[in-house]
Formats: sequence, structure tokens, C-alpha cells
Amino acid sequence: MSDFLDSTEETRPASVEDGSPRHHRAKGEPRFPDGPQADPAGSHFERRIRSFQPRRSRVTTGQADALQRLWPTWGLDIDGQRTLDLAELFGTDSPVVLEIGFGMGEATAQMAAEDRKTGILAVDVHTPGQGNLLNLAERSGLTNVRVANGDAIILLREMLPPASLNGLRVYFPDPWPKKRHHKRRLIQPEFLDLAATRLKPGALVHCATDWEPYAEQMLEVLSAHPDFENTRPDGGFAPRPEFRPLTRFEGQGLDKGHVVNDLLFRRVQHRDQHTPGD
Ligand SMILES: C[S@@+](CC[C@H](N)C(=O)[O-])C[C@H]1O[C@@H](n2cnc3c(N)ncnc32)[C@H](O)[C@@H]1O
Repeated sequence: MSDFLDSTEETRPASVEDGSPRHHRAKGEPRFPDGPQADPAGSHFERRIRSFQPRRSRVTTGQADALQRLWPTWGLDIDGQRTLDLAELFGTDSPVVLEIGFGMGEATAQMAAEDRKTGILAVDVHTPGQGNLLNLAERSGLTNVRVANGDAIILLREMLPPASLNGLRVYFPDPWPKKRHHKRRLIQPEFLDLAATRLKPGALVHCATDWEPYAEQMLEVLSAHPDFENTRPDGGFAPRPEFRPLTRFEGQGLDKGHVVNDLLFRRVQHRDQHTPGD
């Protein structure tokens, strides 16, 4: 699952800028003893959309240092074994927004810095990105970001209480362009059914993509879902709101001439629905 599952990878960051010799891990030896765990949920939770691609990318010295040093304080392994208390996790009962697939985390850190009263639960399986986001958060003195390692679907399904989230962000999810892979796209009815249960009424769902057929699919499934309504009166895509910075993948898409579409939907409160705590 995570990038570091492959035991053939080096323990030391590949860049080894410090000139220290490479250390080969023994079988089963964790890559980051105090950092994120490889495949924290194991294979216990098999039936789910597989929306991410395994990526083998290198962890730099700085990222490795952040994973070792900062993970115990700001990291969270998605093991699917307990229900989270978000007020406890963030040390405050401020609103919490879940961001799925933060990549290298630059946009996440920027948004968190601009709205320090909102907790950002940022999830990805990408180890270098986790290290990068931890570094960015430390550099900006952010206390409102938690970095979660693993599959967002397990986090939502097994670990987040009902109606616990004030928002959901999915920026440039893997587009899975081939027809036979469309079932791996994250934004589909099954995922929305799950997400709806974890979002508070009124919560904003913000998606963006540079893959137009996926944008059309997002618009179609979100518009058809009874628990979400489009915040756009014309029922269409939204222009990029000012609060969303350009992301790394977006930049790559724009360089290729792709058109970017944002979608801003709201979790609807149904008349017979009670929010926990009402
Ligand atoms: C194409 S990248 C976009 C990254 C970033 N949002 C950006 O715009 O630069 C999509 C990211 O989503 C992550 N991802 C996809 N499905 C996921 C899931 N179910 N749980 C956690 N992360 C996921 C991938 O690992 C990848 O880093």
C-alpha cells in the first residue's frame, strides 16, 4: 500500500546527501521506527474502492527526518481499529475538514496557514508527501494539521464518527482515464454514500480535477445524490475559489493545456435528520 511496503527499497533516503553509508533493513524491520507504519490497516478491510496507485518514489533526507521526528506528534496511522475523537486529536473542538490525497501537501499547508481555526485532517498513502507536509507544517508553525497515512476510505468507514466533518476536499484525485479503471475513481455513488454519513449538514464538499471526463462524472454523481446540493445556482462547475491555491498536479495539468473544473457542493440537512448533539 504505502510506498515503503517494498522491502527492496533503501532505509536511508536515496539522496544520501550526508554521505553516510546505506543501511539495508532486515526483513520485517520498519523503515521509520517512530514514523508511519507500512500498510497500517493490513488487508483486513478488503472490500473498497482502490483509488490510489502504488508509487515508488524516494524519500529525501529532510522528509525522512520529518517522518521520524514529527510523526509521533502529528501523524496518524489508519489502522481501522478505533473510532477517533477529533477534538482530542486536534486538542480543540474547532471544525475539521478532511482532505483526501494531498500529494506533496503544498496547497494543504497554505490553506491551513490561512485558516488556523480549522483543523485539517490530511490523508495520503504517499510517504514522501507525508514527510514534506510535516516539514511545511513545522516551518509555518501550524498546529491545525494532522497527517494521516493510509486509505481514506478506511479512515472514513472505520475511524470517523457520523456527522463529524465540517468539510471534504478532494483536489486532483487520480483520474483513472482507462475505461476498465473507471471503477477505481474515488468520486462515485458508493463513496458519496459513505462520505455523506461522516459530514455534518451544511458541510462543503470541494472537488477539483483537470480531467474533463472525470469532472463530468463528478458533476453527474454529486448532482444525482440526494444528500448533496450544488452551491452553484446554475447547477454547473464553479470557478476556482480564492481560498484554493494552485496545486502541484494542477500545475502539471495546466502545462499540458488541461481545463480545470472545481465543484462546490453542500451536504444537505434532511427534515427528519438529527445531527448528533442536537
Ligand atoms: C494525483 S495526486 C493529487 C495530489 C494533490 N492533491 C495535488 O493536486 O497536487 C492524488 C493523490 O491522492 C492520493 N490518494 C488517492 N486515493 C487515495 C485514498 N483512497 N486514500 C488516500 N490517498 C489517496 C494519491 O496517493 C495521490 O497522492
